[in-house]
Amino acid sequence: MSGVSGESTTLIERIAIYGRDAAGAVAGVASLLELEESLPGLTGKRSPLASWKRELAALAPDERREVGLALNAVVREIDAFVERRRADLAAAERRERVALDRLDLSEVLERRLPGHLHLVTQVREELEDVFAGMGYEIADGPEAETEWYNFTALNMPRDHAARSNQDSFYLATGDHESHLLRTQTSPVQIRLLERGVLPLYAVAPGRVYRRDTSDARHLPVFHQIEGIVVDRGVTFGDLAGTIGTFVAAIFGSGIGSRLRPAYFPFTEPSAEFEITCTICRGEGCRTCGQTGWIELGGCGMIHPAVLEATGVDAEQWTGFAFGFGIDRLAMMRHEIEDIRSLIENDVRFLTQF
Ligand code: DAH
Repeated sequence: MSGVSGESTTLIERIAIYGRDAAGAVAGVASLLELEESLPGLTGKRSPLASWKRELAALAPDERREVGLALNAVVREIDAFVERRRADLAAAERRERVALDRLDLSEVLERRLPGHLHLVTQVREELEDVFAGMGYEIADGPEAETEWYNFTALNMPRDHAARSNQDSFYLATGDHESHLLRTQTSPVQIRLLERGVLPLYAVAPGRVYRRDTSDARHLPVFHQIEGIVVDRGVTFGDLAGTIGTFVAAIFGSGIGSRLRPAYFPFTEPSAEFEITCTICRGEGCRTCGQTGWIELGGCGMIHPAVLEATGVDAEQWTGFAFGFGIDRLAMMRHEIEDIRSLIENDVRFLTQF
């Protein structure tokens, strides 16, 4: 019996030594991650504590009690150490993150940089100038729209598949899904047509909203410029010419562009408009999803249903419309690889334009 008792004394000693070593190990980890990764070997299934626990059954009842108490005590002690170390590390890591996030504005202050318009605003104004030069009126519409203007009048009736392509932010106005943040600038077409003043040559730049996850090419809040022309005898050729003119005005003549057949409910025929990706010059890169092309927007001949919805005689009048992303245009013009740079408000980025 005394032999066993001798063994259990040394076991208790070993447990105590283990406890001190473990506390040292906990103190020595450099990060939360390292701490969490060390736990299985320290107190978990892979630890000496676990094997000692398994050996308890083989001990005499008295020893089992003594060793069991010692094991429990050392586990509690180590757990307390771990808890404290975890709190300290979390606080330190938080402090470090905050320090890294701090924006150092001293350079801006020293250089006495004057404020200026955001790149997107600059490009929007340039676009307005280009179209004003072609005799277009600059129009405007509300960002909170009704379903009628954003969808229905644009030939996208309730349950039309095209509505689900544009995941919308609906507004809680009481009426179920009656108001939303506009998903496109196309509702301004309807507001302009409703005035009943023809012929019509107008562009409408503005902010639009979609339930989109942002990536290198997408933002959930972005800008479009809508164009609408309604006159007698307007053709697809006029549309192609107009787009060519404004692309040349913005990008110069060196940049390739193409129209691809597409579907929009409010135009027929419809096309998607793409330009050569200016980041890779058509080679394929992360920005253009390896295609070499960047889609700027859509266009087409206004669908008779849209004219009729607004009381315009589709026998007498024809027209075209287009809608382009202004942020994308700015991005391509200035070879910005990631559209998210536009909303990060990093002065080192902003002051380049
Ligand atoms: N509203 C469309 C969109 O956001 C773009 C568009 C396509 C506008 C064709 C148009 C058009 O005016 O004719 O995806």
